[in-house]
Amino acid sequence: MVNYIEAAGAPLKNTGAIRLYGPEAFEGMRAACQLTARCLDALVDIVKPGVTTDEIDRFILAFGLDHGALPATLNYRGYTKSSCTSINHVVCHGIPNDKPLREGDVVNIDVTFILNGWHGDASRMYPVGSIKRAAERLLEVTYECLMLGIAAVKPGARTGAIGEAIQTFAEAERCSVVRDFCGHGVGQLFHDTPNILHYGRANEGPEIREGMIFTIEPMINLGRPHVKVLADGWTAVTRDRSLSAQYEHTVGVTADGCEIFTLSPAGLDRPGLGSNT
Ligand code: MF3
Ligand code: CO
Ligand code: CO
Repeated sequence: MVNYIEAAGAPLKNTGAIRLYGPEAFEGMRAACQLTARCLDALVDIVKPGVTTDEIDRFILAFGLDHGALPATLNYRGYTKSSCTSINHVVCHGIPNDKPLREGDVVNIDVTFILNGWHGDASRMYPVGSIKRAAERLLEVTYECLMLGIAAVKPGARTGAIGEAIQTFAEAERCSVVRDFCGHGVGQLFHDTPNILHYGRANEGPEIREGMIFTIEPMINLGRPHVKVLADGWTAVTRDRSLSAQYEHTVGVTADGCEIFTLSPAGLDRPGLGSNT
């Protein structure tokens, strides 16, 4: 049994009820998410062979502070960086470090800015120099998974429709969907209910309602879906060391679909893969 609460006046904790937000919250989320999108846009010119993920992380921190925002990951459950940088077989939660990126790498950069209390959460894949055809194909499949998931968002459908759309396409492309991580409600909390699974069936999960705000962030592997977390307690990698990719948007449910809050104002939602559409 699932229930819903009006976000205004609801206590700021994960109560298990799904929050429904009004126009003021949508305005706040739009601003936070657009700041995140602009930062991800700026990274297009920064990600190249020889650059370290620590340098990228420092740019993200400075960008946030310059615009009155804080990175939500900083000091989040013991995490000490301003972003996650997940390279090649790293599925998610890669920790920025002092190793230079290399030609042919593909790196997911995941940024969450808190602006005026609202969380804007998004990630994109960045090719480092020229990449192999297999990597390019995985990026294309993963981006398409995200957009098919978003297309399934409308009031009256269940959250399982998002997962079904993603899983059906990914598996038809002979790729696999990571099960261990999911999208999430987001707003004044970083990770809220509901969980948005990237696999499953359309008749599963809670009903989607106007005013819900959540992320969709499929992690898609070229090999098998299984992951393990390294000894650092964060870095998740594919068990078979196959390539993994992820794109993430934050969306708000409208009367007839959803608004993508984290859409790139410059049309750079899929760096290196041409424009959107
Ligand atoms: N931004 C990630 C997400 O999409 C969460 C990162 S939490 C961290 O939900 F602590 F690993 F940074
Ligand atoms: Co997220
Ligand atoms: Co994220």
